[in-house]
Amino acid sequence: MMKTVTLRKEQIYQGDLLLVNARHPYRDNSRKFYVSLNSRYEETLLSREAANALQLIFQKISSGNAIVPVSGYRTLEEQVNIYNTSLKDNGEEFTRKYVALPNHSEHQTGLAIDLGLNKPDIDFIRPDFPYGGICEEFRQAAPDYGFIERYAKDKESITGISHEPWHFRYVGYPHSKIMQENGFSLEEYTQFIKAYLEDKKYLFEQAHRAEIEIYYVPAKDDKTLIKIPENCVYQISGNNIDGFVVTVWRRNNEQELYGH
Ligand code: DAL
Ligand code: ZN
Repeated sequence: MMKTVTLRKEQIYQGDLLLVNARHPYRDNSRKFYVSLNSRYEETLLSREAANALQLIFQKISSGNAIVPVSGYRTLEEQVNIYNTSLKDNGEEFTRKYVALPNHSEHQTGLAIDLGLNKPDIDFIRPDFPYGGICEEFRQAAPDYGFIERYAKDKESITGISHEPWHFRYVGYPHSKIMQENGFSLEEYTQFIKAYLEDKKYLFEQAHRAEIEIYYVPAKDDKTLIKIPENCVYQISGNNIDGFVVTVWRRNNEQELYGH
């Protein structure tokens, strides 16, 4: 049995898989709610799912106080201020490399976070987040919980942003895992997944767990109808450009055997 989900065109601007960069501004004006990361860092806000996933990673690696959230959700005004302050303090070349133009920052989505190694005088724009120790443990564990390191050194020409070891982006599992395993930037993954369509889905297999199907549905001008099998967990995200990425957790036989 299938059910039909109906999506409006502007829903391509909503979801965990939004590609926000110099070419694709953040356009979602719908009212959203963000949550504090935890009581210790009340001023750092993120989308609920991203905040939950981040807490799970911190627990998994027992990071305690060693990793500090430096910047999470930003309003447009905050991004404007950061951009202008950096222009004044650091000049144009630096600012273009490390600060996204207002309305082109992932921080405005509530899905991105800058993290720093806990030490005195943390740099707000470029916190230290080394490829070793607890920070590297975080980096390695992140894709199991939906987060990716967003601005890799070898992807500068694709992302348009300089290497940022401290900036992590929530895209959701298993997208994060597929990106890690294939070394894709979000730009590349967005393109990659468009080759998989309703009649030719991408299959993400996991031992002893549900298979996950992923595919792309181009947005129609009016309404887009997507058929989903009943009794399955699914997610639909806009890609912020031209369509939707559908993720369906298929029940497999083994799971039914063990009654999960
Ligand atoms: N530092 C990242 C690119 C931002 O400003 O969104
Ligand atoms: Zn950032």
